[in-house]
Amino acid sequence: MSNRIQIFDTTLRDGEQVPGCQLNTEEKLQVAEQLELLGVDIIEAGFPISSPGDFRSVEEIAKLVKNATVCGLTRAKKEDIDAAAAALKHAKRPRIHTGIGSSDVHIKHKFNSTREQILEKGVWAVKYAKSFVEDVEFFAEDAGRADIQFLAQLTEAVINAGATVVNLPDTTGYLLPHQMHQRISYLFENVPNIHKAIISMHNHNDLGLATANTIAGIQAGARQVEVTINGIGERAGNTSLEEVAMILNVHKDLNMTTGINPQYLYPTSQLVSNLMGINVQPNKAVVGANAFAHSSGIHQDGFLKHAENYEIMRPEDVGVNSSDIILTSRSGRAALRHRLQLLGFQFEKPDLDKIYTRFLLMADERKRLEDADLLELVG
Ligand code: KIV
Ligand code: ZN
Repeated sequence: MSNRIQIFDTTLRDGEQVPGCQLNTEEKLQVAEQLELLGVDIIEAGFPISSPGDFRSVEEIAKLVKNATVCGLTRAKKEDIDAAAAALKHAKRPRIHTGIGSSDVHIKHKFNSTREQILEKGVWAVKYAKSFVEDVEFFAEDAGRADIQFLAQLTEAVINAGATVVNLPDTTGYLLPHQMHQRISYLFENVPNIHKAIISMHNHNDLGLATANTIAGIQAGARQVEVTINGIGERAGNTSLEEVAMILNVHKDLNMTTGINPQYLYPTSQLVSNLMGINVQPNKAVVGANAFAHSSGIHQDGFLKHAENYEIMRPEDVGVNSSDIILTSRSGRAALRHRLQLLGFQFEKPDLDKIYTRFLLMADERKRLEDADLLELVG
């Protein structure tokens, strides 16, 4: 089995479902261009049937994108698949992403249907999408809660119908990582034709486990991951692209590769955050403002002696200029001396001790000290 992980970015579809964060076509084109630069393999550009604006965005992205596959989402409905096929007409590498709910709760309470009818509809949708494009991805919505034997049956049937990728979403973010691993392993052991398709992870973050579940899926054999920039998406969001990309980059022991150029991670995160008007939480892994900021005395001293004491990746690797030494009342003399040196001041004991005493009083009062506070401190 290949160890190349396909990165399927759904920032412009699942990510854009965040209330109030809709982008217009021009903004979506900017994001798509940046995603190509970042090196994603597939861009899910939208859900063409959902609105004329989304149709146009998918159409324009399909014309613009040179290397990545451009994908449009559909339900297992003729009019959806027709709209996606039309919107993707100019794509160099078009993909239709079609599917239907697979858990009993969805089958009963969303579709008022039966497993047999769902399987039939899924197979029909794949075959119909195949009449337009070669590359058809099938999603078994809520696969995380689906009966595993039915999921195996459905997977086998849609692969026989021509699905090139089978997406097994944990739509509600329910599974634990070991359960995800068991379920994907079960499918690899029990679906005879599974090696004819790529198995994809699409995990939501309702319990904060989206990234962990995605990695568990990869370890069990999944070779595509559906992710968004900054982990944005429905409710608590989707799996974060930057987290998965850097886990695979830092953990060489996993022996997996991607096409991602990590130096574009931070610029891409900033672009999406600015266009959508959603701040990145400061403690967000990889791209948050504090991801490379050290603020306690013990950490600062250790970091200044040797960065690897407290950093497992370098900020430059992900496009961040440099690490930060934040001055608060938890900082020690090493950090204070370092920041003063950056401002051109060289103090040794006992002068540094005196400044440090005044520094603590000021930091208790002002919480975080910036360069202007330091200048005031040293007169
Ligand atoms: O979360 C989900 O199940 C989805 C599908 C539409 C792929 O977003
Ligand atoms: Zn989703």
